[in-house]
Amino acid sequence: MSLLPVLKDPDTNLRTRSVEVDKGDISSGRIQGLIDNMIETMAGENGIGIAAPQVGVKERVVIVEMGDGPTAYINPKIFSTSLRKVDSEEGCLSVPGVFGIVKRHKKVKVKALDRDGNKVQLSLSGMPAIIFQHEIDHLDGVLFIDKVERFTSPPKL
Ligand code: CO
Repeated sequence: MSLLPVLKDPDTNLRTRSVEVDKGDISSGRIQGLIDNMIETMAGENGIGIAAPQVGVKERVVIVEMGDGPTAYINPKIFSTSLRKVDSEEGCLSVPGVFGIVKRHKKVKVKALDRDGNKVQLSLSGMPAIIFQHEIDHLDGVLFIDKVERFTSPPKL
């Protein structure tokens, strides 16, 4: 495994829509190695989520930490959202030192494949719901600063 450099705004690689991973490629060394390296990179940066375009790979892979260890989700798709939204204070490994309030759906339902290629379906609220919305935005070339209602950075020390 290896730590990968995290691309920083305004790198244009962060602004591209990522492509879906073919189900048959998930077991490949390339995708499994990408997942391992993304997990190590996220941990090294003390992140709770990371998306493949942040390490320069424009494919729909995210790692999310929801309290039970970093987990990979491939081709994640939000298929249902709550009408209710919440204010979320966010930062991003690709926008270091910047924090701001973003409106996010309070609850989302997500379909994805796990790293073994199995279909998974998640009903999420709280932080996990917000992390998925943030990471899936990355797969569409969107950063939280595009949606921010007000910046709260730099954080008060
Ligand atoms: Co981010």
